[in-house]
Amino acid sequence: MKPNDEQNQENVLFVGIDLGTSRSAISASNNKREWIESYVGWPKDFIAEQVIGKPVLFGEEALQHRLSLDLCRPLERGIIKEGIESSERAVKEIIRHLIDLANSEPGKQIHAVVGVPSDSLKVNKLAIRRAVAEHVQALMVVTEPFAIAYGMNLLNNAMVIDIGAGTTDFCIMHGTIPAEEDQKTIFTAGDYIDEQLFNYLIEKYPNSRFNKNMVRQFKEKFSFVQTLNEDIRVELPVNGKPVMHDIKNEIRRACESILPALVETTTEMIARFDPEFQTKIKNNIVLAGGGSLIRGIAEYLQDALKEYGDCKVTRVENPLFAGSDGALKLAIDMPARYWETL
Ligand SMILES: Nc1ncnc2c1ncn2[C@@H]1O[C@H](COP(=O)(O)OP(=O)(O)OP(=O)(O)O)[C@@H](O)[C@H]1O
Ligand SMILES: [Mg+2]
Repeated sequence: MKPNDEQNQENVLFVGIDLGTSRSAISASNNKREWIESYVGWPKDFIAEQVIGKPVLFGEEALQHRLSLDLCRPLERGIIKEGIESSERAVKEIIRHLIDLANSEPGKQIHAVVGVPSDSLKVNKLAIRRAVAEHVQALMVVTEPFAIAYGMNLLNNAMVIDIGAGTTDFCIMHGTIPAEEDQKTIFTAGDYIDEQLFNYLIEKYPNSRFNKNMVRQFKEKFSFVQTLNEDIRVELPVNGKPVMHDIKNEIRRACESILPALVETTTEMIARFDPEFQTKIKNNIVLAGGGSLIRGIAEYLQDALKEYGDCKVTRVENPLFAGSDGALKLAIDMPARYWETL
């Protein structure tokens, strides 16, 4: 650990937090790593309180008890839902819960770098700061793709594309802290694929029973673009009886629905640079986020960009923790003058 100026390191737990639409993760300087689905639920009434026996539930557990809860997914489309008090409260709860999971010994100061989608940084910086302030003593808020880039040491001539649930975030690194024009957010990401897939399936199988949660699970299990040498079949009830359904074509179409905007935005962002830098950046494109797990997506993007010369697209090793690990590395390396004391 580098000496972080005057601070007394012994007494500080550094954490990197990735605040995502669908999942949030924490990596801490005590080597703990944890993640939860970004759902928060409060018991609806006095009976619900008794059934549940806890004041607040998170993630998978909250989803399971959704009928007894006021359920909140606070970062829909990557932005703290405006004007809704419970969203801000929910973000607070997520941060507190993640820090609890990282198991700080009581009395330790928490210094946190929080990665959020690029757009929410523009729109929600104050709300995010309020939500975090209660639980940490020093804070820096950065964009998710910047945290990922920092964690992978991609500081110069590189591009990170974070395909999340609510948003796809792009960030070009050229040897400085990225400015606003080096970053861009679009809304074609995982949730969008889920919507498309849901609609395609309803159209093809109007008498079969399924819900959005099941559709997302099908996507996560089978996602691919272009070609795949295997069948994709799932069992769904029709009039109460289980029936096998072929969903390969629908999976492919839904996953491919995000490709045009992905290629277009990548091309546009790179085009702003000098040709010499364009070539370097194009040879250093990294996909991150849950969407980077779609089979064939890196190869597709690489082929699409090759039209204009050499290009290399890879993906991060661990999409779940790439953001929080990068944020933690930033927290550990950052000189004291960059921290905002709360
Ligand atoms: N194998 C997979 N194939 C396709 N999509 C997947 C796969 N695994 C996860 N996903 C999708 O990735 C998305 C979640 O990714 P991630 O955890 O990076 O998002 P997030 O950080 O919560 O969202 P955001 O960055 O938009 O705030 C979800 O839409 C999820 O369904
Ligand atoms: Mg994310």
